[in-house]
Amino acid sequence: MIMKQNNFTKNIITGISIALLSAVTLSGQVNDLKNSDMKKIDTKEFPALPYAYDALEPYLDARTMEIHYDRHHRAYFNNFVNAVKGTAMENTPVEQIFAEVSKTGEAVRNNGGGYYNHVIYWENMGNKPSKPSDELTAAIEKAFGSFDKFRETFSNAAKTRFGSGWAWLYLTPDKNLAVGSTPNQDNPLMDVSPIKGTPLLTIDVWEHAYYLKYQNKRPDYVEAFWNVVNWDVVNERYKEALK
Ligand SMILES: [Fe+2]
Repeated sequence: MIMKQNNFTKNIITGISIALLSAVTLSGQVNDLKNSDMKKIDTKEFPALPYAYDALEPYLDARTMEIHYDRHHRAYFNNFVNAVKGTAMENTPVEQIFAEVSKTGEAVRNNGGGYYNHVIYWENMGNKPSKPSDELTAAIEKAFGSFDKFRETFSNAAKTRFGSGWAWLYLTPDKNLAVGSTPNQDNPLMDVSPIKGTPLLTIDVWEHAYYLKYQNKRPDYVEAFWNVVNWDVVNERYKEALK
């Protein structure tokens, strides 16, 4: 399952092949970024959802999943592809684009974020039993006091994000766990974001993520989300982020 999810990540976020890149700045100049093993973006194929539309029933209904994935996410992907086509960004790892997204314009920021964030979201959900690893549990307890407190903090971040956006559990650059939220399609990898780090777990709180089933009751959707978190993926992200 984990391997399947990892493959999904590679295909969706950054491409079929893992390419060692000479890091190219958005202006086309070569620099010596340490993250030379970032994966190359594949902007040629919209990746598959890692489960059926009804897999997360009854918590997330199939109709919502279909519209969300096949219309909203696909549109972000297509618009992102068009925004980077013919520029140096076409061959730049998406994480690197986000690190300088303030220079790229709104189309790349909004559609690149919309493309990437939904991948993280689909992937950190599933319908198989899972739980936080011992390592992640210990880190959560250290950062938040208890798992319940973490869950409450994350849920509150999701419930109180004004308008549209995302809530995140992320690993800060100094390797601590933190929770926060971002507006619109921003994420913690972006230089424009006040919260910065590596995404570990996210929830989409745009109305399109829940309105058909939950209408205006975002808190009910947020509570339902906990039933479909794929901790195997979150555990793996945490392990990778610590390296
Ligand atoms: Fe969404």
